[in-house]
This record gives sequence, structure tokens and C-alpha cells, in this order.
Amino acid sequence: MAREKWGTKLGFMLAAMGSAVGLGNIWRFSFVAGNNGGGAFLLLYLVFVLLIGIPLLLTEVSIGRKAESDVVGSFKKLAPKTPWYLTGFFGITSAFLILSFYAVVAGWAIFYFWNYVNGSFFTEPEVGYGGAFGQFIGHTWHPIIWTAVFMILTIVIVLSGVKKGIELANKIFMPLLALILIGLAFFSLSLDGASEGLKFLFAPNWSALSDPSIYIAALGQAFFSLSLGMGAMLTYGSYLKKEDKLPSAAVGIGLMDTFFAVISGLVIFPAVFAFGIDPSSGPPLVFITLPSIFEQMPLGGIVGLVFFFALVLASLSSSVSILEVPTAYFMSAFGWSRFSTSVVMGSIMFVMGIAVSLGFGAWAGVTPIGEKNILDSMDYIASNILLPLGGLSMALLVGWYFKKSTALEATDMTGSPFAGIWYNIVKYVAPVVIFLIFLNKIGVI
Ligand code: PHE
Ligand code: NA
Repeated sequence: MAREKWGTKLGFMLAAMGSAVGLGNIWRFSFVAGNNGGGAFLLLYLVFVLLIGIPLLLTEVSIGRKAESDVVGSFKKLAPKTPWYLTGFFGITSAFLILSFYAVVAGWAIFYFWNYVNGSFFTEPEVGYGGAFGQFIGHTWHPIIWTAVFMILTIVIVLSGVKKGIELANKIFMPLLALILIGLAFFSLSLDGASEGLKFLFAPNWSALSDPSIYIAALGQAFFSLSLGMGAMLTYGSYLKKEDKLPSAAVGIGLMDTFFAVISGLVIFPAVFAFGIDPSSGPPLVFITLPSIFEQMPLGGIVGLVFFFALVLASLSSSVSILEVPTAYFMSAFGWSRFSTSVVMGSIMFVMGIAVSLGFGAWAGVTPIGEKNILDSMDYIASNILLPLGGLSMALLVGWYFKKSTALEATDMTGSPFAGIWYNIVKYVAPVVIFLIFLNKIGVI
């Protein structure tokens, strides 16, 4: 069977932006920034996105487009008889780890949407929004139902094929989400005490830079948010036609994703300080903060409803790109149908998601890595370690294994005034920076 192609370059752009923009910008960005002291983290994150993220995004998409294959097959084709294809198995592992917690958190978002539909979050519950959230995620099976709903939606989109499923949701709901977030940011900035939040987000506390964890956290956030290093962008790139130009697409996707993260910060942190919430509350942070904002707003109930609807759709356009990674691989490696592959992969991820969900209740004492619960442990391994390693491997392929002329041609950079900068980043800067951050983290330097 012939591989599918995007209808238009716009179709690819929307799908890739849909992959990038998701819970990573709102939920993950806020709590990782909150845990790592705010301003210094934001600065490092922005540096990593510009210096490493966008150049590697171009690199990853170009690998897929050149090979026209999945995350394992692409490396086998472009670097035959080398171990490079192992990158693909790292990517598939990341996909399983990430989607199993992503579906749990997106399930929480669907539950919130439902609470705005039936009005129960229009006014603060007696136990407070934080209390209600804690009770909900601590419940044994209640949140799992919502995880299942989200996973089923993801599977249905992936099994109907990359083109049909994804384009529409992205065309309408990304702009809607952006509009709501901008409106929310203005409202949040008008709250009493908002300036504390601005200071937290934009005034770097330089001493935070002496902690090695902040570098790996910022690097991991840049990779996670840009959907980088797993093969999601590679797989989407493999559905591109040769004549579509890549550099402008990579820059557009990168800037759009970063815009969503910064706006989310402007929504969340002023409110965090205005409502006296602890910025280092971890994964629950936005789920406690947002309803408090909506309650204070005129027509906040309606705004909350639309917001969570848009957030769920943004999450779906990301989750389908994650499920697509193992689906594309198993389909082509074993000749399975799209239908059964996506159902089987999605079901395995759902079962892993049950463990993630229980990690907030019955299994709260299970801490696979240090103090980290199941979600945080899986997130740490996938986002902070496997994704940067995947990106490192892609950079080495294009920077060192390819001839320079091949690398430039694959990325449509031949003759570009930025060709030299891009090439040196991919060949030297990105590998060295990623390597140093790992050494620093494990205490070698
Ligand atoms: N970038 C997505 C987000 O920010 C998550 C994602 C990670 C998607 C890795 C694909 C691959 O929500
Ligand atoms: Na993102």
C-alpha cells in the first residue's frame, strides 16, 4: 500500500503545530517553570528552543521527508548497517511512556470540561478547587474513565488516517485557544498581586543557575514542547512531498509553540501569586489555578467551558502524533493494518496509564525514581533523557554521517544565508550542549 501524503503543505504545518502545541505548553510548562524558580528557567528554555530546538526540528523533519519511512525504517534506510536505527526504538519507548501519562492528564482536562458543562465548577466547591482536584485524582477508577475516553478519541483519529483526522481540529481550535489564552492573560494581569507573578516569571534569580537540574529541566521542556527527539516530527515529515520547503516551517512551528508557552505563563503565574497558590505545586498547578481565575471572571463559567474544550482538542492533536510513531513503525515493519495497530498500541498505553493514574491515589507511595511518583518518573526518563538522546542521535546523523551537501539539500538549506549557522549548530553546538548537560547532571562536571 502506498504511504499517505499530506494534502497540502498547510496540512503538514497544521498537524505539526498541533503536535507541538498541547498540554506541554500549558500544564507542563507551568509546573516545570514553577518547580525551577521561574525566570532563570524561562530564559534557559528560550535559549534552548532557539539555539537547539528549532535547528533540530528542521533536522528531524528532514530525516523523515528524505527517507519517507517511519522512525526505525528511516534510520535503516539512510544509515544502513549502522546502529543508528536504535534511535527509533528509543523514540517508540518515549512514545509509550509519554502518551500513557499524557492521556491521564488530558483525561483530567476532559473531566474539567465536563464540570463546566454541568456547572459544578462555576462556584468553588466547599473543599476548594485544590481539594476537589485532589479528591478526583486520588479516586481509584473515576479518573481512569476519563483517561479511557481520551485514549479512545486518540485511537479513532489515528485509525482514520493522518490526513482526515487531524487537519480540521487544528484549523479551528488552535486559533480559538490562542484567543482565549490572550484574553485570560489580560485578565490575570489585572488581578491584585499580579506583579509578583510577573517578577517570578521574568526576573531571573541567577543563583538558580548553579543547580544542574535546571539545565536538564529546561532542555527536556524544550524537547517535549517542540515534540522533538521522539520521531513524531520525523514521521509527520515522512508524509511530506518533496517540493514542500522546510526551514520556514520549522521556524514557524517553533515560534508558535513558544508563543503559547509564554502566554500560558502570563495566565498562570500572576494568578498563582494573586490567589496565594504555591508555584511549585507540581503537576496539579494549572488544575488548581485555572478554575480560580474563571470563577473571578465575568462569564467565567462559559470561558472555562470553551477553554477546556480547546485544551482537550489541542491535547488530541498532540496525542495523535505520539500514537502515530509506533503505529507507523509496526504497520510497515509487520504489515499490520492501521486499524489493529493503532488499537493495540493505544490499548497498551491505556493500561500503562492506569498505573500512572493510581500513582495519585492507591499507589501514591510508589516512587520509581527518588521522590518522584509514577507520572514524574516516566516523564523524567522520557522527556529529560530519551528525547534529548534521540535529538542527539539525529544531529549526529545529519551533521556527521551525511555529507555537508546532503545535509543542506535534505533540509532545503542549500544557498540559504543561514546554512552555515544551522550546520554548525547541528554538527557541533547541539551535540556538545546536550552532552555537557548530561555530564553536569550526573555530576561529572
Ligand atoms: N509537544 C506536545 C505538547 O507540548 C507533546 C508531545 C511530546 C508531542 C512529544 C509529541 C512528541 O503538548
Ligand atoms: Na508544546
